[in-house]
Amino acid sequence: MPESGKKPKILVIHGPNLNMLGRREPALYGNATLSEIDAEIKETAAKCGMVADTFQSNYEGALVEKIHEAIDGYDAVIINPAAYTHTSIAIRDALLMLNVPIIEVHLSNIYRREPFRHKSMIADVATARVAGFGKQGYIIAVEAVAKMITGVRGQASEVTGVSNRRPVAQTKIPLSGH
Ligand code: DQA
Repeated sequence: MPESGKKPKILVIHGPNLNMLGRREPALYGNATLSEIDAEIKETAAKCGMVADTFQSNYEGALVEKIHEAIDGYDAVIINPAAYTHTSIAIRDALLMLNVPIIEVHLSNIYRREPFRHKSMIADVATARVAGFGKQGYIIAVEAVAKMITGVRGQASEVTGVSNRRPVAQTKIPLSGH
């Protein structure tokens, strides 16, 4: 929960190639540009009484460092790691440091696509996921997160059936030979 009197702050992170939205496979990802989507995200957040910062990078390390900023600075993180969804242990590990809701967003329904997209490295780290709604998925995530963190309609558990805190399912890897 944010400090009383302060508006909740959310961070929306976009991964590689999402800066090309509008020109990138529009049949799959839509015609809206990332700046148009970011404007809608900020507008929706403001309507919900929150402040949204947005960030995009094509570089894994930059995304990791931005997630570090959320450790103390934000009340929720919405992230579309794009292709890094399927590969990045570094992004997963960074997200594991957060104790705020994490929403995984995909424009496309990754389960209707190539098998390599069916695996998400962050699926069990995220509090929830929205996929397949195109840019509307970000708006759905912002509105849902507002209900989770503002307490307007009560505790997160009353609204969503889940705790604000991420139910971390960390895999324990047994040490061989011990
Ligand atoms: C994506 C799906 C990923 O598989 C892909 O690499 C992307 C976008 C989506 O939003 O649908 O870049 O995350």
